Amino acid sequence: MSSKLRLEGKVAIITGAASGIGEAAARLFVENGAFVVIADIQDELGHEVVGSIGSEKASYKHCDVRNEKQVEETVAFALEKYGTLDIMYSNAGIGGPLTSILEMDMEKFNSTMATNVSGVAVTIKHAARAMLDRKIRGSIICTASVAGTLGGLGPHDYTTSKHAILGLVRSACSELGTYGIRINCVSPFGVGTPLASEMIKLEASVVEAMSCEMAYLKGITLKAKHIAEAALFLASEESVFMSGHNLVVDGGFTVASNSYPVTAAAATSNM
Ligand SMILES: NC(=O)c1ccc[n+]([C@@H]2O[C@H](COP(=O)([O-])OP(=O)(O)OC[C@H]3O[C@@H](n4cnc5c(N)ncnc54)[C@H](O)[C@@H]3O)[C@@H](O)[C@H]2O)c1
Repeated sequence: MSSKLRLEGKVAIITGAASGIGEAAARLFVENGAFVVIADIQDELGHEVVGSIGSEKASYKHCDVRNEKQVEETVAFALEKYGTLDIMYSNAGIGGPLTSILEMDMEKFNSTMATNVSGVAVTIKHAARAMLDRKIRGSIICTASVAGTLGGLGPHDYTTSKHAILGLVRSACSELGTYGIRINCVSPFGVGTPLASEMIKLEASVVEAMSCEMAYLKGITLKAKHIAEAALFLASEESVFMSGHNLVVDGGFTVASNSYPVTAAAATSNM
């Protein structure tokens, strides 16, 4: 059996890696042999994550994904420091305001789009340019959401932005494949991170309990690490022929209806 690490010597940028899912991915990617640039706007937290991972394998770069120049500089930083760029995990996002559609604040709507959609588009653009210039058969991964598939699971602005990510990934896939660059997304169900807690105004433990309750798959609490595992798969050679895919990590929630639970009732009667 080969003992080769799944991302041995690969170089990755992970946006939004100072916290939550991005942080878990940074740790997991490094455990699997990668060098990781943690790109975020929470500088203190970002440096702490680097400190706990180890500065020989990880580094921090301030990068506001709303600012194209900073994204370009972050890609240049990774190339300069590690000599290449194999993986871009475009994960940074915000929850946006929780309001009625009748009270929608268009400035806030645009602000959510600026981070969650433009911010992802610009990371795809600059990562793909760097990969193309160097003939790297790279992997780009974006964090969408179950709210990118179904309405009613998050605020209106957020839901719109996550649907857009699926479109962006599918559109980019049709072009980037020509160069051997793969692009996919991961769509998590509710994970108890600061974003999820703030977005739906509930404690992290309640977010986790709700996901447990609502998922069809029982007996497991969804954690950031589980989403990071899905991103690792998409980053690694194990998914070498996958592009344009939406890897949903939701314990089956989005593929079966809760409103007419005939089969679930049958299972309960067997218990
Ligand atoms: N937690 C969930 O339940 C859940 C579910 C589905 C999708 N997601 C998505 O997962 C991704 C990560 O979120 P999380 O749950 O780990 O939350 P989190 O709050 O722990 O992490 C989000 C990170 O993004 C960073 N960020 C925000 N705006 C940024 C910007 N302009 N530039 C750079 N970094 C920025 C934050 O500083 C933070 O470190 C988001 O895209 C989110 O929409 C989360």
